[in-house]
Amino acid sequence: MNGGMTTAPLFSHSPPAVLQTVEKLRHFVKVARARGGRIALVPTMGALHDGHMELVRRGQKKAQAVIVSVFVNPAQFGPGEDYDAYPRAWDSDIEKLTAAGAQAVFAPSVSEMYPDGFTASVSIGGVAEPLEGERRPGHFNGVALVVTKMLLQTMPDVALFGEKDWQQLQVIRGVAADLNIPVEIEGVPTVRDENGLALSSRNAYLSPAQYHVAIRLNKILFSMAEKLRAGGSLQAALYGGHVEIAKAGFDSMDYLEIRDARTLRQASTKTEGLRILAAVRLGKARLIDNVGV
Ligand code: PAF
Repeated sequence: MNGGMTTAPLFSHSPPAVLQTVEKLRHFVKVARARGGRIALVPTMGALHDGHMELVRRGQKKAQAVIVSVFVNPAQFGPGEDYDAYPRAWDSDIEKLTAAGAQAVFAPSVSEMYPDGFTASVSIGGVAEPLEGERRPGHFNGVALVVTKMLLQTMPDVALFGEKDWQQLQVIRGVAADLNIPVEIEGVPTVRDENGLALSSRNAYLSPAQYHVAIRLNKILFSMAEKLRAGGSLQAALYGGHVEIAKAGFDSMDYLEIRDARTLRQASTKTEGLRILAAVRLGKARLIDNVGV
């Protein structure tokens, strides 16, 4: 098919077609394919912001039909996490997707995805083990399960994920490769607000005072990256970052690490292909961010 070339849309849906079952999704994909179109899948949990819209825009450059899934996936939330409180914003999501020209929204119910008697699992090690994997046991297996299901349900040419969840992106690349799922996984750079805060649906939890603390995180990570680029040692950059985070006013820090960008293994001496990753807590919000070196 026509590679990365774009692309007159195959369907001028406005608003997008809402597909609530796997059967309807498959029918939509079949019709799009019959018209010779490439399919892009943008998996989301809704409460869409400009970071998601950037995934849609990138998808439109790579395919004629962009399908956005909106599904708050219970399997990736641990006990005591924010599954019930997670922001849901269906009407404004549809408005944004209509304005962006997405062709379809896949919005299954929990029972459509996990019917009674569902017992399958997808278990992933390696890149899923450190960092978020240690702090949120089971989280990446839940992500891997739902993404695997959606890739198999849709069989898109390309699926797009934000680099804001850097480790998740590496996990999904690993799952698709290990399970030979024939899809291109495309990472899309983090979209930030005017103060550099990485856009996230969970930013809705921040009070105005907390917001002013939250915007320190990206500045600290960028300044660590600068120091490394200027020839500073990993140890000095890490030490400086820890000091700054302690001073910034977060409630606590889950981790601040400099890792190999692909494997997420500890980086010892190398100074290229690194990623600085952090998770901090602030009120009800747990903020994660990362920058490349
Ligand atoms: O990044 C997210 O919003 C979710 O983890 C994903 C990839 C949509 C799976 O539920």
